[in-house]
Amino acid sequence: MTNLMTRVFLQRLPPKLCASISVGSIRYRQSHWEHHGDGSSKRHRVHFQNSAVAGLIGVGAGVALWLNSHHSAEAASLLTTEEEVSTFGAYHDGLPEYTLDDVSKHATMEDRVWVAYRHGVYDITDFIQEHPGGDKILMGAGGSVEPFWALYAVHKNPHVLELFEKYRIGNLSSSDVGAQVKDMDDPYGNEPRRHIALKPSSKKPFNAEPPLPLLADSLITPNELFYVRNHLPVPDVNASTYELDIADEETDKERVLTLDDIKKYPKHTVTATIQCAGNRRSEMTKVKAVKGLSWGQAAIGNARWSGARLCDVLKDMGIERETTDALHVQFEGLDTDPAHMPYGSSIPIEKALDPYGDVILAYEMNDEPIPRDHGYPIRVIVPGVVGARNVKWLGRIIISKKESDAHWQQNDYKGFAPNVDWDTVDFKKSPAIQELPVISAICEPLQGETVKVKNSKVKLRGYAWSGGGRKIIRVDVSADGGKTWQAADQLESDESGHPRAWGWSLWSAEVPVSKKSGEVQLCVKAVDSQYNTQPENFENIWNLRGVLANAYHRVNINIEQ
Ligand code: MTE
Repeated sequence: MTNLMTRVFLQRLPPKLCASISVGSIRYRQSHWEHHGDGSSKRHRVHFQNSAVAGLIGVGAGVALWLNSHHSAEAASLLTTEEEVSTFGAYHDGLPEYTLDDVSKHATMEDRVWVAYRHGVYDITDFIQEHPGGDKILMGAGGSVEPFWALYAVHKNPHVLELFEKYRIGNLSSSDVGAQVKDMDDPYGNEPRRHIALKPSSKKPFNAEPPLPLLADSLITPNELFYVRNHLPVPDVNASTYELDIADEETDKERVLTLDDIKKYPKHTVTATIQCAGNRRSEMTKVKAVKGLSWGQAAIGNARWSGARLCDVLKDMGIERETTDALHVQFEGLDTDPAHMPYGSSIPIEKALDPYGDVILAYEMNDEPIPRDHGYPIRVIVPGVVGARNVKWLGRIIISKKESDAHWQQNDYKGFAPNVDWDTVDFKKSPAIQELPVISAICEPLQGETVKVKNSKVKLRGYAWSGGGRKIIRVDVSADGGKTWQAADQLESDESGHPRAWGWSLWSAEVPVSKKSGEVQLCVKAVDSQYNTQPENFENIWNLRGVLANAYHRVNINIEQ
């Protein structure tokens, strides 16, 4: 629970508050845009330290970040779903009343830490003490947490709110309720239009997957049906003023590339599958609840990406295997949180510098400019590697001895043993996921469908993929819950082979069924070019974040003649 709570708030502090923060153990890098009166903007890098608890004096003001003087009603409406209105943060008779001014006097452990949420005032001092690492909750200390929840609406779920209510000490005075969000722009007010077929698992930020059967229709997933996984609002980047910063921490060399500069490099095209680490999480969560978006089997897609090879661009800066001591290549997006911290992650430098690694600064997706949701105008494509490292709206590349210190590299997208829970998890103990394991899914028929049997056989279609450039060499299917198996009749893929098979395979099979009617369980498992295959069930691979959910895909259907 600790880390979930932590994520509800922000991982980093607003730059304006940096000066008031004492030295702590984690150093964060920040790039942010400073907007000038003439409409131009310039990106600056700010280095600062994340604080220890005691260093957060005065942070209460930070919650007012992202407030400005435009629209109001839309922003406020972000924060009130029916469920919350009736249950959490509601007015409680008999509790003492406090103003925001009272709350702001409680921004440190010494003064006890208070926060406000809707009509509620909460003393979260004990929560922080009982949950090591929960100090980041202090982002909201002495103020309202609502501005954060406007941005991270996805984390404002009933579990979090329920926990929050345990720390309730009073009511916020009615004149202050909503005050800290009343003038706030809806950070999601400028999102792109999306295809109606995409089924959202969260709207703000937007996360959605296409209907599963459509995935199996074409080896190349159409742009408008490609799943979307956004952590923050989609930035609206102007291609004509776009700049990509590249910094080499080893030599202090810096370079800025425009879109035209990037397009001058030889154009390289790769067909690569991108998959979210949480694809198929909804199956894992049936074993035991996990935290995360409830993805079905379609948080995956296969596209043709074109752009400049990252190794060519780096070579131009004199960065080659023989010349650099750096170990990682960090990426930052232009999508930022209220503290102006960008989405970020990193990959090992070997992958970036390997000409056969096919890492590209992509400007085209399926021969069109990359759509806004997928990273316009530039996104890094890291074939064979988890979606999280394929940073969209790429703003900055840093060549470094260190991994990215972004939340998504350090405190998310990692696997753990089934016994690890939110009270015992230590994110430092697991490496960041890079190459993904072999996975497959049945796209048709769907769970619960009634299917007509032809010649005592049912027809199945689906996809299979493995990370790290491993090719799918076989797909096994079963129509009796895994007692007997046969290889799929057809496997379709692009022509690339191991170890540069970045794209998925689509498969189809006609599987005999032993009964004439009633329920049967269909199963699929794939085998990759290193003879890795999938685990039989989710019990053995369960992990608290529901990532790497690659057990056999099982689909129960009813058959009839
Ligand atoms: N890049 C940025 N800048 N911001 C993001 O939120 N999400 C990542 C990755 N790159 C993300 C990002 C994750 S977790 C995934 S799974 C993929 O983008 C999703 O890519 P897609 O939306 O194009 O399918």
